[in-house]
Amino acid sequence: MIPKSFIQDLLNRLDIVDVIERYLPLKKAGANYVACCPFHTEKSPSFTVSQSKQFYHCFGCGAHGTAIGFVMEHTGMGFVEAVEELAKSIGVTVPQEAGNVPQHKVAPDLYDLMQSTTRYYREQLKKTPRAIDYLKRRGLSGEVAARFGIGYAPDDWQNLKAAVPNYQDASLVETGLVIAGEEGKRYDRFRDRIMFPIVNVRGNVIGFGGRVLDKGEPKYLNSPETTLFEKGHELYGLFQAQKAIRAHQRVIVVEGYMDVVALAQNGVEYAVATLGTATTPYHVQKLLRLCDQVVFCFDGDKPGQKAAWRALENALPQLQDGKRLGFLFLPEEHDPDTYIREFGTEAFEHELDNSLPLSGYLLRELTAQVDLKTQEGRSALMQKAQPLLTAITAPTTALMLRKEVAALAGVTQAELEALWSIKPVAAPQRPAPPKARRAAPSGLRTLLRCMVMKPELARELPNDWSAEGAEGAAIAAVADWLRESADETSMAALIQHFQGTLHEGVFAAAQGEIMHLGEDFDIAAEFTGLLRKMQRDAIEFEMSALLAKGLGGMSQAERARHEQLKQELQQLKAQPS
Ligand code: UTP
Ligand code: MN
Repeated sequence: MIPKSFIQDLLNRLDIVDVIERYLPLKKAGANYVACCPFHTEKSPSFTVSQSKQFYHCFGCGAHGTAIGFVMEHTGMGFVEAVEELAKSIGVTVPQEAGNVPQHKVAPDLYDLMQSTTRYYREQLKKTPRAIDYLKRRGLSGEVAARFGIGYAPDDWQNLKAAVPNYQDASLVETGLVIAGEEGKRYDRFRDRIMFPIVNVRGNVIGFGGRVLDKGEPKYLNSPETTLFEKGHELYGLFQAQKAIRAHQRVIVVEGYMDVVALAQNGVEYAVATLGTATTPYHVQKLLRLCDQVVFCFDGDKPGQKAAWRALENALPQLQDGKRLGFLFLPEEHDPDTYIREFGTEAFEHELDNSLPLSGYLLRELTAQVDLKTQEGRSALMQKAQPLLTAITAPTTALMLRKEVAALAGVTQAELEALWSIKPVAAPQRPAPPKARRAAPSGLRTLLRCMVMKPELARELPNDWSAEGAEGAAIAAVADWLRESADETSMAALIQHFQGTLHEGVFAAAQGEIMHLGEDFDIAAEFTGLLRKMQRDAIEFEMSALLAKGLGGMSQAERARHEQLKQELQQLKAQPS
């Protein structure tokens, strides 16, 4: 766990304008900075960054957040990764809270080594007509080869002697570039192969895949897992594809290096490949952070079919309602590379548009394995479906699939849920019972806006404070947050704290309004004034309801209540405002 105080400290030390400018150019516009939004396609800039308030907000698509949030959104990094990246950018190390295993730190010189090796392989490619011919035969232009940093490892045992100052250095073995044999003999892992650098989302080379030029085994040789390279976390081509993935709001997951490169060559720049491993839940999560639609497009052969099913299984826990996962099954003899080269980009994109949705694929496979005409078959369907459907947490998707499977099996949804001992999905939440005193909804937006700008104002709320609607709930949540955490309470901290929560949308709207407010008014005075007025209104409302009964119509308790309210009102009015 990263200590919360560190996050706050980090946000204080960073300037969001600097951070965002590393990824996209900003233009000054009045008090703020603007750009065309990187998170949706637009022609005129609605992406706005406030330097004084340290957050960004897009008036077009609603994207918003702090510097940390921006890096997460833009690169698909997780929270910890983004914090580490930002900390590194200002030269501080991320402390670890006691009781946690510290994450291994990667020495920057390992990255440098990978970088100079990449450069070396690229230079060798330029000098090797046989390798150039091979790539040309596979339809690649020099431009695309350069975009992916493709190179060539010559046919010698110790090529890298020419690329690094000390061939004996431990870092060569640590990165998997060199293999230490018996009697201290060392030799290059990659010899006479086309080299595909594997790049992480930060643009660092972390490994290689090397393909034989002619026939030979293995066809592809990959870097081993190292401190830099974890296969289940990385996707080949993601660094190069990020921009196109955002622009198209779609990503294709393929099996091979050459598939990614060939698709890019043919104008489909939003493809990534798993690295000789199954698609992991982590992969899916990472991609769903970047866009709304993931299409798996594996080879048409048996292993491809198996890979697709594994991808489905691992995607289930990551599903989100409103995001689409699709499966594209190519003819048996094809992979994406051969398909797009034979039939062209338009045909391939047409296939993508018509990919089989995850639910369709799931039901197709389930029903293909059983005979629904028999009771045994329907019972088998229930058994096979159980682990798959119970892995889904996205409420709507879970609901739909439960309904469909139940119908196919000839039971009701309630029976299915009872049989599997799972909670019914989407039971509507009952509204909370009304509390004694409620603030009127008018004014709540302004109150919330003040509180976003100066979260510590929430301390002024009375303990029994409650109000209607999403704004009321958000205000109460800020009060709870302040009570529970003693950390600093800047606007950036608030945004960061509520990112990804139920209240996020309400805060986002408030931030959008704040973006255009000056800071030349007394936020605290406005807040306090408004709060008092709302309290007075609530008391007067309750008093007038009591009075409507007439003094004679009130019970003993009601009369006491009326007296109490009268005193409260006097006290409120006596306070300076
Ligand atoms: P394929 O055998 O489908 O190769 O392996 P490909 O991508 O179509 O390659 P080309 O078109 O013949 O050049 C798919 C992926 O599986 C991994 C690689 O990541 C490869 O891109 N693989 C395959 C290996 O790691 N080692 C191998 O020997 C073969
Ligand atoms: Mn291929």
